[in-house]
Amino acid sequence: EKGGYEHFMLKEIFEQPRSILDSMRGRMIAESDHLMMSGIREYENKFVNAKRIIIVACGTSWHAGLVAEYLIEDFARIPVEVEYASEFRYRNPIITEDDIVVAISQSGETADTLAAIELAKSKGATIFGICNVVGSSIARATDAGAYTHAGPEIGVASTKAFTAQVTVLALIAMIIGSKRGTLEETKLRQLMVELETIPAKVEKCLLLDDQIKEISAKYKDATNFIYLGRGYNYPVALEGALKLKEISYIHAEGYPAAEMKHGPIALIDEQMPVVVIATKDSSYEKVVSNVQEVRARKGKVIAVVTEGDTTIPSMADYVIEIPETSEHLMPLLSVIPLQLLSYHIAVMRGCNVDQPRNLAKSVTVE
Ligand code: F6R
Repeated sequence: EKGGYEHFMLKEIFEQPRSILDSMRGRMIAESDHLMMSGIREYENKFVNAKRIIIVACGTSWHAGLVAEYLIEDFARIPVEVEYASEFRYRNPIITEDDIVVAISQSGETADTLAAIELAKSKGATIFGICNVVGSSIARATDAGAYTHAGPEIGVASTKAFTAQVTVLALIAMIIGSKRGTLEETKLRQLMVELETIPAKVEKCLLLDDQIKEISAKYKDATNFIYLGRGYNYPVALEGALKLKEISYIHAEGYPAAEMKHGPIALIDEQMPVVVIATKDSSYEKVVSNVQEVRARKGKVIAVVTEGDTTIPSMADYVIEIPETSEHLMPLLSVIPLQLLSYHIAVMRGCNVDQPRNLAKSVTVE
């Protein structure tokens, strides 16, 4: 059942080239300019004219929501708010009939997310669901939606569900952007071609497994970790930190790299591993300065960089090279080494990676 892998989590990490492909299947074919999602088509006018999109989710799904905020605002120019479902539902939120509320949930059973959409529904908002489990409670409670088609995710730590969510959300942002005319035709084409190459590039990221295992051995006894990223890689930093804490029980914090100087920089000393996602994108130069700030305080830098980069490698203790892609799609690649890092560290620490203590696969209580 684990397909020869030692754990479900590892199997699911390695399934990602396929699960990402499955999440695009039938929805996008770059060479024939086919880009379509049936759940969106029904509500196309609503999406095109939406004044605001509110995303509600928890945990890893909330991180996918943060990526979607950047994607939708970039491509479709519609304001997006990303909310923890548990906070949203209890704070008397302002919701109108012109709002679209997008619920993201792997299991489709998360109690807070379900309650958040029931609340939004009662205020007249249109509810769109992005779920992995077919026929789940959230999928049934929404007006429309798109399944992620990642296949069953058994490991408690979410991996392939995250990349499938991001893929579907990228497609949605591209579709709305193209209908609204805010995403140029040539840019859209480039994105479609690029998205099609992602499964093969994820495959290349998975080849880093042995190298990441070696890095894991060096840091398995650390008591704290910091993860830094900016722009599209900021949610990836949060996700990397969450993966590490939930399965290895090492305390980890994810931060937008520039926020570091407003507090967390005080934590950095020669004991502190700092994972920096520093791929070549519009915030690259800024991240270089953030890495220098870490070096100046003797922090250990583990950097995820774009293949061929020479600047960051000259400043880092360990370098993980991943393929180049559009910055909008980079989370689909940059998260892979972080999933592997947390997996190997947890295994080396003797943790039960598939069923970490205190955690359940679906959180059906608030
Ligand atoms: C992280 C993790 C949790 C879930 C969260 C939401 O690895 O598994 O943080 O992401 O409980 O679950 P879903 O997506 O099922 O609503």
